[in-house]
Amino acid sequence: MNHLQRKDGRLFLEEVALEDLARQYGTPLYAYSLAALNDAYLAYEQALSGLPHLICYAVKANGSLAILQHFARCGAGFDIVSGGELARVLAAGGAAGKVVFSGVGKTAAEMRMALQAGIRCFNVESESELERLNRVAGELGKSAPVSFRVNPDVDPKTHPYISTGLKQNKFGVPISQAPALYRRAAEMDNVTIHGVDCHIGSQLTDLSPIADALDRVLALADSLAVAGIKLRHIDIGGGVGIRYQDETPPDMAVYREMLQSRFAGRDEEIIVEPGRSLVGEAGVLLTRIEYIKQGEGKNFVIVDAAMNDLMRPALYDAYHDIVPVQESATPPLACDVVGPVCETGDFIGLGRHLAVREGELLAVLAAGAYGMSMSSNYNTRPRAAEVVVNKNEIRLIRERETIEGLMAGERLVSW
Ligand code: LLP
Repeated sequence: MNHLQRKDGRLFLEEVALEDLARQYGTPLYAYSLAALNDAYLAYEQALSGLPHLICYAVKANGSLAILQHFARCGAGFDIVSGGELARVLAAGGAAGKVVFSGVGKTAAEMRMALQAGIRCFNVESESELERLNRVAGELGKSAPVSFRVNPDVDPKTHPYISTGLKQNKFGVPISQAPALYRRAAEMDNVTIHGVDCHIGSQLTDLSPIADALDRVLALADSLAVAGIKLRHIDIGGGVGIRYQDETPPDMAVYREMLQSRFAGRDEEIIVEPGRSLVGEAGVLLTRIEYIKQGEGKNFVIVDAAMNDLMRPALYDAYHDIVPVQESATPPLACDVVGPVCETGDFIGLGRHLAVREGELLAVLAAGAYGMSMSSNYNTRPRAAEVVVNKNEIRLIRERETIEGLMAGERLVSW
């Protein structure tokens, strides 16, 4: 079900006209559909039904408190990569016991915080990290639950910046070294082996690399069991890709079959850490056209959102659909949609055709994931506000930042 629909030329998110949102909350504005969040979550629940499982929403995709609160209410766990993300999960009412902690650079302070909160598992990414975790847990008189993130060396066929499971990537431990690490962990006093995990990349539109990686991980789990190390869970990493342009995201029924066939007859709990696919298509970025500049051979639609609000186009050359909020009879203009930031890389979309005029609104689609969470204050731009729409109701979930707020922690100095 698509929760973004055009009625009489006007774009609605659920039952709310986007122009009303812009009028009420200003632009740039991130708006999310609650029904779309629910549908996306339900698709994973259905794919995993009948198998012991835990869906750990990857907080990095969109860590706004109300989004986390929503998934906590759905019963989700969380995949975090920092102490800050743990604090967000707890502040949003998430259960520490359903949190897995990923990332290559966990500090001792973050480990202490996570141990004290009582998280489900540390996804350990190196031997040095294991040694540190054992020491920190010992100092607290606790045993740290661990899983090793193994690197199966599978090509996920996605953008190089978001592929993580290749030999040359910094993530995880080579799968060939994993048995020795498990043996080392088994000897330690302050760690308890819980599972194995693997994450090969994001925005995967082909299931076969995920299936290949999973087969390698399951083979590892079986060989560990023979060696007397029984795993309680298998964490298969992030979720499936979504549609930004003309991609065909994996069919969730095929995803379901891929998992059901592999886990039939096994007793480990499956953990999955989807981020993008739970929030991406639920969100739009609303922006207003400030100017239209007709150049020599190039036209620019200059909007009030910029690379600081949505970094994906600048950073990954990512494509997001951009559509007028109000359809009009204006002749379409070939244009680049750009922001006010002083960089040539500050674009939201290149080579578009838009029938628009100055002062009108544009909606940047599929912006719910890695949009707000990657935003910054570059050019001293306050970050956007965020709202969630539920049928005809709207909730402001994040106020627009103020310029005073941006300067709040700074000091002038006298020597
Ligand atoms: N688990 C781990 C360990 C991860 O590193 C990631 C994403 C996920 C789960 C969630 O993956 P997803 O379900 O979202 O594919 N900023 C980039 C994406 C970076 C993804 C990093 N890791 C973008 O905007 O495309």
